[in-house]
Amino acid sequence: MSKFKVGELFAGVGGISQGFIRAGFDVGWANEIDKKACETYRANYNHRLIEADIHSINPKDLENIDVLSGGFPCQAFSVAGYRKGFDDARGNLFFEVMRLADHLQPKAIFLENVKNLESHDKGNTFKVIVKTLQDSGYYVKSAVLNTCKYSELPQNRERIYIVAFKNINSYYSFNFPGKTSKTINIEDILDVEVANKYYYNKSKYYDQLKSEINKEYTIYQWRRVYLRENKSGVCPTLTANMGTGGHNVPLVKDGKDIRKLTPRECFRLQGFPENYVLPEYVSDTALYKQAGNSVSVPVIEQIAQNIKSSLRINDELIGSYINKSSKEFTSEQIDRLVAV
Ligand SMILES: C[S@@+](CC[C@H](N)C(=O)[O-])C[C@H]1O[C@@H](n2cnc3c(N)ncnc32)[C@H](O)[C@@H]1O
Repeated sequence: MSKFKVGELFAGVGGISQGFIRAGFDVGWANEIDKKACETYRANYNHRLIEADIHSINPKDLENIDVLSGGFPCQAFSVAGYRKGFDDARGNLFFEVMRLADHLQPKAIFLENVKNLESHDKGNTFKVIVKTLQDSGYYVKSAVLNTCKYSELPQNRERIYIVAFKNINSYYSFNFPGKTSKTINIEDILDVEVANKYYYNKSKYYDQLKSEINKEYTIYQWRRVYLRENKSGVCPTLTANMGTGGHNVPLVKDGKDIRKLTPRECFRLQGFPENYVLPEYVSDTALYKQAGNSVSVPVIEQIAQNIKSSLRINDELIGSYINKSSKEFTSEQIDRLVAV
């Protein structure tokens, strides 16, 4: 059975590629503008990476793919960002996805973004996105999933996932994954041997940290002038601004002392495997940003699995089940197909 192909826009360090590859897809190509993210990307993948501004891409130069994916930059929609939405150049990047989609005509489009994309500008931004996808001939489903409720990972990360299909039968058959319980604890993602540079014992804040951080293997975060303990046994959402200022990286007290999480631990909290290369020539600052910008791989993997099943309905099984007089399946037929 030939594999479906995905093209990854706004690829960052390839978290979406990771999830789709694990679900059995091939990656045709990827696009990313940031030089340092491209360095990490190249250390891990051999497929074509176009290091360029998406605006400069001519879709005629792209190999055809079955799924077009993109976690388009979320700063414009994020609560932590500027709340400008489509007025912000970064918000407009969604229309670049559609420019390429209109040419490539993928069977499915997969988008990931911050949760409040849905409520931004009283829901108007999201309406525009759905309407634009529909106008291009897609049927759209979306869901907000929290990583710690939809995967084994101990990270609180609510993200909106949008899945759009060209074919109505794929659309009907597609479901977002169900809830699962977190099985990995904070302690499990921590390294035993950690370089001294991550510890705070020489910091001018050490006394304050020591008086406020009293529980081991619990994540704490600076909130302006005080420290907030995460009482749910998970790590708060990793953010891109972890790479700036240093203060934003989550803190933990391990068996030795108080320290910040390492870049490797942050990538682990996103579900990247141990053999995912974090190149030595990419700085910690850049790696923190890349981890925060990326996605929770196991969540992507499960969605990609379900996308694959729904695409198969049309590509592989259609002949044996389709009612020749109708272009659409009945819901009973779809249930049978999904069960195959
Ligand atoms: C939210 S991150 C997506 C990260 C990705 N999903 C991952 O797993 O690492 C958005 C990415 O879009 C990239 N980007 C921003 N503007 C771009 C542009 N004009 N063209 C191409 N990529 C761009 C950023 O550098 C950033 O890596």
